[in-house]
Amino acid sequence: MQRDSSDKYRLAIFASGTGSNARVFVEYFRNHPLVEVALVVSNKADAPVLEMARQHNLDTLLLQRSAFYGSENLLAELHHRNIGFIVLAGFLWLIPAYLVKAFAGRMVNIHPALLPAYGGKGMYGMHVHQAVKAAGEKESGITIHWVNEHYDEGDVIFQKSCPLEDTDQPADIARKVQQLEHQYYTAVVEQLLVNNFVQTDYTK
Ligand code: GRF
Repeated sequence: MQRDSSDKYRLAIFASGTGSNARVFVEYFRNHPLVEVALVVSNKADAPVLEMARQHNLDTLLLQRSAFYGSENLLAELHHRNIGFIVLAGFLWLIPAYLVKAFAGRMVNIHPALLPAYGGKGMYGMHVHQAVKAAGEKESGITIHWVNEHYDEGDVIFQKSCPLEDTDQPADIARKVQQLEHQYYTAVVEQLLVNNFVQTDYTK
């Protein structure tokens, strides 16, 4: 695991949208002794997450689709910045094989449902919560998992559920799930880093 001269684990956060999880990471790891958010990567020039990063004086990188899938230039960019771990937080592009391989065991994603249910291509944002509602589920939750070359199929690291009421609308489900995301994602990543990726007790 790469650490910089100040001996911190340097995270890159990949996000395509609002970046509320990215913001929680930035705030949680500000002044942390072992971990720092060193880079925010996006595929959308106008993504609010980039504005958030700039407000915090963070390094940012905007991806071009052709370069992301047609070259491995990104690896040099990450290496150059001494990035040791990647956190996907609402990043909508599929991760290409070269990046999965380079960051095997060092790249995680969060999904706003209890995988393997309600995952896969097209299952993002409100689509997930609408499907959960339509199925009349009694609970939903979050899944934090390792990243492989398929959407939402990497090994599960951590899940947490929340009860749903019959009256909950998709927006209510989204709120409950987001609360879990903000509560647990940073702490799970911190545990992975601090405990050297030993997976114990990450039970529901
Ligand atoms: C979150 O719901 C996360 O689970 C999913 O994308 C969403 C990102 O939200 N992968 P935000 O941009 O962090 O607010």
